[in-house]
Amino acid sequence: MKALTWHGKRDVRVDTISDPTIEQPTDAIIRVTTTAICGSDLHLYEVLGPFIREGMVLGHEPMGVVEAVGAEVTSLAVGDRVVIPFQISCGDCYMCGQGLQTQCETTQVRDQGMGAMLFGYTKLYGDKDGGQAQYLRVPQAQYTHIKVPEGPPDERFVYLSDVLPTAWQAVEYAGVPDGGSLLVLGLGPIGDMATRIALHRGHRVLAVDLVDARLKRARDRGAEVFDLREHSNDLAEAVRELTGGRGTDSVIDAVGMEAHGSRGAKIAQQMTGLLPDAVAAKVMETAGVDRLNAVHLAIDCVRRGGTISLSGVYGGMADPLPLLTMFDKQIQLRMGQANVKRWVDDILPLLIDDDPLGVEDFHTHRWGLTRGPEAYKMFQNKDDDCVKVLLDPAL
Ligand SMILES: NC(=O)c1ccc[n+]([C@@H]2O[C@H](COP(=O)([O-])OP(=O)(O)OC[C@H]3O[C@@H](n4cnc5c(N)ncnc54)[C@H](O)[C@@H]3O)[C@@H](O)[C@H]2O)c1
Ligand SMILES: [Zn+2]
Ligand SMILES: [Zn+2]
Repeated sequence: MKALTWHGKRDVRVDTISDPTIEQPTDAIIRVTTTAICGSDLHLYEVLGPFIREGMVLGHEPMGVVEAVGAEVTSLAVGDRVVIPFQISCGDCYMCGQGLQTQCETTQVRDQGMGAMLFGYTKLYGDKDGGQAQYLRVPQAQYTHIKVPEGPPDERFVYLSDVLPTAWQAVEYAGVPDGGSLLVLGLGPIGDMATRIALHRGHRVLAVDLVDARLKRARDRGAEVFDLREHSNDLAEAVRELTGGRGTDSVIDAVGMEAHGSRGAKIAQQMTGLLPDAVAAKVMETAGVDRLNAVHLAIDCVRRGGTISLSGVYGGMADPLPLLTMFDKQIQLRMGQANVKRWVDDILPLLIDDDPLGVEDFHTHRWGLTRGPEAYKMFQNKDDDCVKVLLDPAL
């Protein structure tokens, strides 16, 4: 089969590799019909190289049709239409029972000290081949799937794998009070979708990015937008001015490690690029290649006693947070990977009839899988107003 594989920093290739087969009785094989590129994939593309096996198949946002099931997968049949969540979880353990599927005790990557195994996401998360391919082996398939109805196009459902539950959890964790305000930092797919969900719930949304096309999408949906290029030094003041001098009740950080304007990040990144992988991995974990600019903005912009919801992914440990300010402002902080299956029943009704969140034309590009390398480059550079790329493995 054809698959997009990782070969180094900014080096994604189309390789021909063997088709996956059933290895465990709890596996299923999916023929992928649509698969997306995520902002999290850009972390692999750019900074997380030391943690990746060369040749790993990328991708964690696939959907498709069941081709084969293992003996114990009685909840799925060949031909079923399914979306595959980005995390692998059993549905049966204590954590899954709590709706904390990202902490699944069956798939936790214990030798790395990490939570549930993820598709296509580094040795830290189980080194499992991902879904930017023609076929995907799904472990724990009895639970790691979302059945979706026949009829509507893939565009309606594919974001259930990640974007929708991530944005949904971000808004839930933000705990915006009735009649309250929310600031969304970053208007990539996650921040854009969180904006739509929050507006749909009737919240007032302020939103920040520094890319024209992304600002326009949020403005068109009804958010009050700020261009960070015009507010590089006074964003918090501008936000307070619009919120009675206080700041917003809640802030979602949907930026993550690619934050623009972080101090030292470029240099640290280039340094680790020159080190042997084992050493670089250690340097990144401890010295930090953090790009915490957006977190600092969130702390500054949230009102006293407000809540920050972190959905952007960060790595490293050394970059200090202003704990004194966080304590003094009595900030509540919630974060983590989205527990996909936790939110599916809440989201699915919004995808079936009308399309209140506008998912059907949320993507900006739908290309053949073989143009994947080009698509990564375009998405990273935000060329051609790219916000979300869907790939079709049949092309
Ligand atoms: N928690 C989860 O389960 C989960 C799931 C998916 C993605 N993510 C993470 O969410 C983050 C966003 O994902 P995405 O797909 O939307 O990625 P993206 O890279 O397309 O979006 C990030 C956006 O932030 C903007 N930005 C950069 N610096 C900024 C700053 N200082 N202030 C405001 N905006 C800034 C960029 O212009 C860009 O539009 C990533 O870190 C990704 O890894 C988390
Ligand atoms: Zn993703
Ligand atoms: Zn579990």
